Amino acid sequence: MDTMIGVIGGSGLYEIDGLEDARWHAVETPWGAPSDEILTGTLDGVRMAFLPRHGRGHVHSPTTVPYRANIDALKRLGVTDVISVSACGSFREEMAPGHFVIVDQFIDRTFAREKSFFGTGCVAHVSVAHPTCERLGKACFDAALAQGITVHPGGTYLAMEGPQFSTLAESKLYREQWGCDVIGMTNMPEAKLAREAELCYASVAMVTDYDSWHPDHGEVEVTEIIRTLIGNSEKARGMIARLPALLTTARGTCEHGCDRALENALMTAPEK
Ligand code: ADE
Repeated sequence: MDTMIGVIGGSGLYEIDGLEDARWHAVETPWGAPSDEILTGTLDGVRMAFLPRHGRGHVHSPTTVPYRANIDALKRLGVTDVISVSACGSFREEMAPGHFVIVDQFIDRTFAREKSFFGTGCVAHVSVAHPTCERLGKACFDAALAQGITVHPGGTYLAMEGPQFSTLAESKLYREQWGCDVIGMTNMPEAKLAREAELCYASVAMVTDYDSWHPDHGEVEVTEIIRTLIGNSEKARGMIARLPALLTTARGTCEHGCDRALENALMTAPEK
């Protein structure tokens, strides 16, 4: 099977550069329409798809993003590897605004979203003990490093419902008691759904602020986030442009088993 890279762009990232044969597609799924049309094309010989998570014009809030339709639509187009790019707040002094973090763990505190493709009629329980693909995360790390970005090779992401930011007490709890490194509103249930769809998934979180815990920084504000986002999305585009060279065109099975996640996950008996 050939690699097809699907990039889900977060706040500030609404397109990618340099695609040959670029075309926007309207894709329908049993879960409704995705956040927007999907841009496909070829970069250095590798098929690419790009979906702006919030829609062009930023019309979906973190709660109303159609996560199931987004993952399903990418799968239908033939995507094998999903790179999630998103803005985040930081709980670590050393993970400063402008830095990137290759997230490898999550704590999911979202509660108002559809989180599974499986429910009545067909029940499955996939493992998300290791919710990201190590191979894909490494490629993102290498691409970011080659682009001159300060990038951290791992981190735990607290996924919150939003849309309001955290209280000071929550910020301190996540940082001091729960050991989280970054916080954002969109990587869940996206990562879980990618696993259910047997897609490799890596998350690149771009730090925009120190949330509210940091004594030397004020409360988090959208104006501050947007200022940092503009520089971050420029860097993300450079990182993405380097990915095709790092992910070979022909791919075998995933060494971490992401593409076989359902093999031992189905509970419902097959139809007779
Ligand atoms: N996205 C960017 N900064 C954030 C923060 N501090 N909390 C939640 N989501 C964010």
